[in-house]
Amino acid sequence: ASNPLFADRLIAWQEQYGRHDLPWQVSDPYRIWLSEVMLQQTQVGTVIPYFLNFIARFPDVAALASASPDDVLAAWSGLGYYSRARNLHRAAQMLVNSHGGHFPQAPEALIELPGVGRSTAAAIAVFAFGARAAILDGNVKRVLARWAGIEGWPGEKRVENTLWQLAESLLPSSGIAGYTQGLMDLGSQVCTRTRPCCGACPVKEDCVACIAGRQSQLPAPKPR
Ligand code: ADE
Repeated sequence: ASNPLFADRLIAWQEQYGRHDLPWQVSDPYRIWLSEVMLQQTQVGTVIPYFLNFIARFPDVAALASASPDDVLAAWSGLGYYSRARNLHRAAQMLVNSHGGHFPQAPEALIELPGVGRSTAAAIAVFAFGARAAILDGNVKRVLARWAGIEGWPGEKRVENTLWQLAESLLPSSGIAGYTQGLMDLGSQVCTRTRPCCGACPVKEDCVACIAGRQSQLPAPKPR
């Protein structure tokens, strides 16, 4: 499914309607990494004050690496999924001890950090280093499953592989950061799980789910 217009429309939509003022829309890989880990299981509005407090307490990788586990957990307290905080702390120590305190640029190297999976590694590489890599978090799975009419539960390996292939095939050759932020923003603001705002969607004209009125059936729920 090669469709250059998909990316063009998403990039234009992101410029006009997407989010441009998030505190992690910066060039510092440390802030980008921290935000992506916080955003794995937590929504933007909840993350923002924790993110600001966290970077005030631990302004860089070295400060985080040398903090005590209790201080890191205290700054995380309330966000939940505390293994994220422990992984973050361990990753900071790995970065200081094995990477000179710098972030590796390639997604293949970023994925070696504890708590960084394939999609998070790609998001960091895209936003911090301009890499051309595909993301596929829960929101993006929903956008792509609806747009392409991909059947089956995305938690199933075969379906997930199909979605990854589609995500790779849709990547633009330039404007990758705006495109990636656009996919995230579309998934969280327009292509929501319930009651998607299809009238506001830049890719509704060729969205399989919208055309067929199957938004509530795609992506398919976990079989039971
Ligand atoms: N969800 C995951 N990463 C995000 C980001 N960079 N901006 C907004 N929502 C996100």
